Amino acid sequence: MTCAPGLKLVDRDAGGVDLAFRADVLAGLAEPQKAIPARWFYDDEGSQLFEDITQLPEYYPTRAETEILTQRSGDIANLIGPGWAVVEFGSGSSVKTPLLLSAIAPSAYVPLDIAGDFLRASSAALSAKFPELPVWPVEADFMRRVELPVEVADLPKLGFFPGSTIGNMIARTATDLLRSMRETLGEGALLLIGMDLVKDEDVLLAAYDDAQGVTAKFNCNLLHRINRELDADIPVASFAHEARWNDVFARVEMHLVAREDVSFTVSGQRFAMRAGESIHTENSHKFTKRSAQQLLAAGGWEPRARWTDEAKRFSLVLAESRPPRSAP
Ligand code: AVI
Repeated sequence: MTCAPGLKLVDRDAGGVDLAFRADVLAGLAEPQKAIPARWFYDDEGSQLFEDITQLPEYYPTRAETEILTQRSGDIANLIGPGWAVVEFGSGSSVKTPLLLSAIAPSAYVPLDIAGDFLRASSAALSAKFPELPVWPVEADFMRRVELPVEVADLPKLGFFPGSTIGNMIARTATDLLRSMRETLGEGALLLIGMDLVKDEDVLLAAYDDAQGVTAKFNCNLLHRINRELDADIPVASFAHEARWNDVFARVEMHLVAREDVSFTVSGQRFAMRAGESIHTENSHKFTKRSAQQLLAAGGWEPRARWTDEAKRFSLVLAESRPPRSAP
């Protein structure tokens, strides 16, 4: 008997082109302020560059969140207790996930990720570290409600969404995601979520424009990826990486700025840019205690506890699911 085809999460044309990638790039380059969604950074090269970013002296979020998970593990464990199914939104980091799992002694671990190969590799690595812990990886797009494995149906659910990835979404998308998380996890769920904090502009800009140029490479890789995968001829050397603080939206923005007038073709479509014009490639929102609480409330979550690192650069919030309300 032949095997049933797996769930197809990526649509490709006959030439192997990711159709959603092409649609996003063509639509984004046609806008007056050109913009490409940040999720397209993460091909193999981009994922490796992001790993390198997390090791940079200027990029404090990973170290600050790891510090919280290490130094506040006792408090976190006391508040949460054992026996949960930890549902991680994303494949899990090799450092932060083990810290949480060691602290709270859960009954199961369920990582959710759309990138199947990466999910399977990180789940295998985690199982090797925690041989007693049942691990149920689910290949799925967690931006929508996900059906969890029946094996964890009777366990209480703790969502884990570290890294301040929520900050990469505009408020509407972040709210939708928080609501889907609540639907995925069900009634009585908890969510442990990393949220980076507003701070000195110089510190923020350095974190997104490091001296070694790794973040610049990460940003420029998007243009290389478009050239590689979408039959494009973008003159990458004519672009420069720029990090900007947007005070209205409390976010760091990354842009690719044309250093001279350029024109290029992507999948047969012609585009032109004037010198100084940019492609907006990422938002990284930063939160205050209040704005974090507002966003969580809009998504149906109420903070129960909040920890920061010693230098108060980053917060980890434990929130509980609130039943939906029909009126304000
Ligand atoms: C994945 N995400 C939370 C990172 C951030 O800080 O917004 C992505 C990143 N972009 C540039 N540096 C890191």
